[in-house]
Amino acid sequence: MYQALRPLFFRLPPETAHWLALESARAVAGSGLLGRLWPAPPAAPVEVMGLTLPNPVGLAAGLDKEGRYIDALGELGFGFLEIGTVTPRPQPGNPKPRLFRLPAHEAIINRMGFNNHGLEAMAANIRASRYSGILGINVGRNKDTPADQALADYLAGIERMWSLADYLTINVSSPNTPGLRDLQHGDALRSLLAGIREKQLALTESMGHYVPIAVKVAPDMDEAAVRFMAETLRGVGMDGVIATNTTVDHSAVLRDPLGEETGGLSGRPLAEPSTAVIRQLRAELGADFPIIGVGGITSSAAALAKIRAGASAVQLYSGLIYRGPQLVAECARAIAGGSGA
Ligand SMILES: Cc1cc2nc3c(=O)[nH]c(=O)nc-3n(C[C@H](O)[C@H](O)[C@H](O)COP(=O)(O)O)c2cc1C
Repeated sequence: MYQALRPLFFRLPPETAHWLALESARAVAGSGLLGRLWPAPPAAPVEVMGLTLPNPVGLAAGLDKEGRYIDALGELGFGFLEIGTVTPRPQPGNPKPRLFRLPAHEAIINRMGFNNHGLEAMAANIRASRYSGILGINVGRNKDTPADQALADYLAGIERMWSLADYLTINVSSPNTPGLRDLQHGDALRSLLAGIREKQLALTESMGHYVPIAVKVAPDMDEAAVRFMAETLRGVGMDGVIATNTTVDHSAVLRDPLGEETGGLSGRPLAEPSTAVIRQLRAELGADFPIIGVGGITSSAAALAKIRAGASAVQLYSGLIYRGPQLVAECARAIAGGSGA
């Protein structure tokens, strides 16, 4: 079905196609059609960050930035959904065009820049949804928040979303918000995560329940930076890590007419670099620390490679654009059965 529709979508500007696909899915959500077209994979529960996922294949952040499509996406067989990145206040993101398809590479370059309607709009969308599966909410900082006040933005996101999320993700790895990735290093990382952990414990006390928090990291880190990240995650007591976000290294696509567009590269060229980060994180973090693997999963074999490198679960984004929702069940079956095509 998706393969039949894909040429039509690919004739439209990427952002229009993206919107049309999601609005179409939204229009038929609840009718049973999505589940008939793309049946959920057999249950294969896994435990990640204390949550029981019905299967280990999730939706990555950025496709549904404000929780508008939760019900539709929840009917596509995912074991969990991550929505966002949401910032405290609404912001428009970067000027268009800001999303580019590179079909020869099954890749995407984006410089969306956290376009979203803010925390209150997302909260209203979640409250209006019927979805009862596992929901992660990815929080970030507004572009115009001074770098030295970033913590306050993350704390606002955590506090507002506490009772709506099964887990929260701290996004310090988008390349499209100036200065954001500086938070992944040194004292900036340590003090940010310490402040977040303090808030998590305070909210657990005041709200009466715990919400696990993961940190989403970039693939563009050398070995020392990955090691420092792992030590800090463990030292501060974070619950998990999501590896990885998009890469600023476009060397694999430079011959593509769009290869030099500014932004984060995702899709097939990211598969190996992100798996390498997962492998090192697993070695540094030990066997039990939850790692969600994301980056360039465009086949069940690529999903399995992430699991073999040490991921506890995986997420998809660009692969859905190129392969459609059938990729979800394909990956889940391969992970359950231990072999992928
Ligand atoms: C258009 C687009 C928008 C994205 N927006 C976000 C975002 O808001 N927050 C985030 O943490 N990751 C975002 N991502 C990154 C994805 O969640 C994922 O980490 C990355 O694309 C690698 O996975 P993939 O190769 O399967 O796409 C975005 C990716 C794309 C392609």
